[in-house]
Amino acid sequence: MPTLSPPELQIRAITRSDYHYLVSVLDRWWGGPGGQRIDPLFFYELGDDALVAERDGEVIGFLLGLVTPREPRLGYVHLVGIHPDHRRRGVGRELYERFAERCRRAGATKLKALGAKGHEGSIRFHEAVGFHAREAPDYAGPGRTRIVFERDL
Ligand SMILES: CC(C)(COP(=O)(O)OP(=O)(O)OC[C@H]1O[C@@H](n2cnc3c(N)ncnc32)[C@H](O)[C@@H]1OP(=O)(O)O)[C@@H](O)C(=O)NCCC(=O)NCCS
Repeated sequence: MPTLSPPELQIRAITRSDYHYLVSVLDRWWGGPGGQRIDPLFFYELGDDALVAERDGEVIGFLLGLVTPREPRLGYVHLVGIHPDHRRRGVGRELYERFAERCRRAGATKLKALGAKGHEGSIRFHEAVGFHAREAPDYAGPGRTRIVFERDL
């Protein structure tokens, strides 16, 4: 399928109805229980940094992130998801670029995200959009290895 880009693809700030919609579809989009990770904190308290991708009035992707208050400031991607029918069309890349711009404006100098071991699609995606990936044993607690993705802004 062809790449989606503006003006067909719109990236905008999240709204309450987007958030409710995403809660209802996330397990389906992820092909498993991702629903718990869409914590309300990322809408009610940190929603200024959350973005959705829309095409023809349909939400087809989202990015929930934040900019850390501590120096050096860091743009942290908590959760990203693209509708399964719209993957490999540049939507994830566009969301990350728009988030990166917001983080730069807020004074951040790096971006960071986490992935789970074995999720090759996520690792390939992050590498394609400029992140360095490293495996971090016990990062999320004993026995809970994570892939840490980092990129300069
Ligand atoms: C990972 C994810 C966010 C990627 O979004 P996307 O919109 O499909 O990605 P893009 O189309 O912008 O891809 C940009 C590049 O990344 C790479 N890429 C993306 N998905 C890939 C995959 N599954 N396998 C290999 N490379 C991949 C490619 O190089 C791609 O460019 P190309 O299509 O021109 O070859 C999406 O597949 C998804 O929502 N997955 C489920 C949830 C998840 O894993 N989230 C990440 C952890 S929070």
